[in-house]
Amino acid sequence: MTKRIHFIGGGQMVEAIIRPLLAKQIVSKEQLTVADINTSRNVYLQETYQIQAQAEQEEALQQADILVIGVRPQDDLAAVAQELQQSKPEAVIVSIVAGVTIEKLEALLGVPRSIVRVIPNTLTDTGLGYSGASLNELAKQEEVDFFLTGFGKVMYVEERLIDVFTGYGVAGANYVYYFIESYTDAGVLAGLPREQAWTIALENTIGAAAMLKQTGKHPRELLDINNSAGGVGIHALYELNASDFAAGLQRSVLRAVQRTTELGEEGEK
Ligand SMILES: NC(=O)c1ccc[n+]([C@@H]2O[C@H](COP(=O)([O-])OP(=O)(O)OC[C@H]3O[C@@H](n4cnc5c(N)ncnc54)[C@H](OP(=O)(O)O)[C@@H]3O)[C@@H](O)[C@H]2O)c1
Repeated sequence: MTKRIHFIGGGQMVEAIIRPLLAKQIVSKEQLTVADINTSRNVYLQETYQIQAQAEQEEALQQADILVIGVRPQDDLAAVAQELQQSKPEAVIVSIVAGVTIEKLEALLGVPRSIVRVIPNTLTDTGLGYSGASLNELAKQEEVDFFLTGFGKVMYVEERLIDVFTGYGVAGANYVYYFIESYTDAGVLAGLPREQAWTIALENTIGAAAMLKQTGKHPRELLDINNSAGGVGIHALYELNASDFAAGLQRSVLRAVQRTTELGEEGEK
């Protein structure tokens, strides 16, 4: 793959995307360029990844096949859209800017362009997290697949589901981090040294997920196998049910989705 990818904005999320793209050799460093308005950020990216990173971006804009808008929602998106007018008309524009709709991007660009709105996952280095992507009418999956799968997995969703995808999917690692922390604390509470409790919590989480994937069984089937009559498992489960565990998690996801929408609406004002 010899496509060129240019990033406008080179902050934390863009770096988290660049790192696995290079590490997995999805692209070579010659294929990547970045333009941040912050000189020290450009210097850092250039020194760390040996990629061209500089505020001057005319040539990079003209050569790129994929142009990634990596600035924050509150940054000057109109100025970025103005810069993008120098790019090849057939190049795809990928926006990772949270809360900014395809409709708004189309209005800012002013001319018909292939646009892909992406909510990138935060597990990019593992290759396991799902990013969510929505396409406008001109964009095609095959144009961006290699790029999006270079930093994880990708699920193409209707744009109306992007906030749900964000609060449920992209925020998803947080729920699991918190579960593992709480589970570890439970082991310590019961008397295990923290290091042992941590190791068991981590391995059980990975192992249980692998079991579900390998067997294709519903969690209830595996719970039934583990929960003998009057035994340890069913007693533990009774307390978990009484603790509002499932509803608490579900309320947490709904709040995350709602907050995503609120932030998008605040950005509109
Ligand atoms: N971090 C995440 O977990 C995450 C997850 C999903 C989506 N996102 C999205 O990713 C985007 C970037 O987030 P981030 O966390 O990476 O933010 P960040 O670290 O603050 O990076 C943004 C960078 O863009 C630069 N910048 C601002 N305006 C610019 C312009 N006109 N041209 C070129 N560079 C410009 C900023 O420079 P200055 O600091 O000097 O202004 C900064 O270095 C956001 O839109 C966010 O919604 C982030």
